[in-house]
Amino acid sequence: MNNQPIGIYDSGVGGLSVLREIKKLLPKESFIYVADQKYVPYGGKTTKELHKLSSAIISFLISKEVKAIVIACNTSTVHSISYLRKKFNLPIIGTVPVMKTIANITKTKKTAVFSTPATAKSPYLTKLINKFAKGITVYKIGGTGLEELVEEGNIRSVKIKKILEKFLLPLKAKQVDAIALGCTHYPFLRNQVEELVGDTMQIVDSGGAVSRRTRVILINNKILANKKGKDYYYTTGDRAKFAKALNNLLGKKKRSVDHLILKVNL
Ligand code: DGL
Repeated sequence: MNNQPIGIYDSGVGGLSVLREIKKLLPKESFIYVADQKYVPYGGKTTKELHKLSSAIISFLISKEVKAIVIACNTSTVHSISYLRKKFNLPIIGTVPVMKTIANITKTKKTAVFSTPATAKSPYLTKLINKFAKGITVYKIGGTGLEELVEEGNIRSVKIKKILEKFLLPLKAKQVDAIALGCTHYPFLRNQVEELVGDTMQIVDSGGAVSRRTRVILINNKILANKKGKDYYYTTGDRAKFAKALNNLLGKKKRSVDHLILKVNL
């Protein structure tokens, strides 16, 4: 048993879609969440920049004595997880598009991964496709502009609808019947995605898979918690804005939200 917190981070509020799934499965765990809103979006960053940002965040989380890290960000995972596992000596769980699931459920053998541009063009995603989706067409859709709008908290806007239409409607014509939401900001847009393409496509995100994987890693390392402690939330951006987004996305509740200064040279 180990009641130290789990460190979890994303470029912003997207990782909260992963956090809420882990909390459902592991209610006794405590968390320290970092939203790197000063540097959001990660989707246009280089691998080197992503290494620097994730290293700085994990160093901070280790200084808070976390027992494991969850990277609640596809972009950071696909670019940096191998680098981070070599650099830091604690269990690190990543978030990647659920390739295997969409490959299993497609009937038309046409699928899509909807992610940030950085994830879409990563060699890691190509490897995942080669490993799990042999013989299946996978359209890699690198969306832009959505993370910032989710960060604003206005997840029902006309702007979001327009962007989703641009990226997703062409997939209908291509007979795609399974789509992976490969950015942790996107599950907050699930209702709009369903309204657009839900009649012909199954929509899957990674939250469930990451929470199950986290449980396995905690069990294997004998570090499951048996007593819930307090959760802490940090943002490298604006504290009040983040606190508001937290209430909007996870439900209204009193939470400890602090500002974090990250020392990085991009
Ligand atoms: N939420 C992140 C992901 O899963 C990154 C979004 C961004 O900052 O571009 O990729």
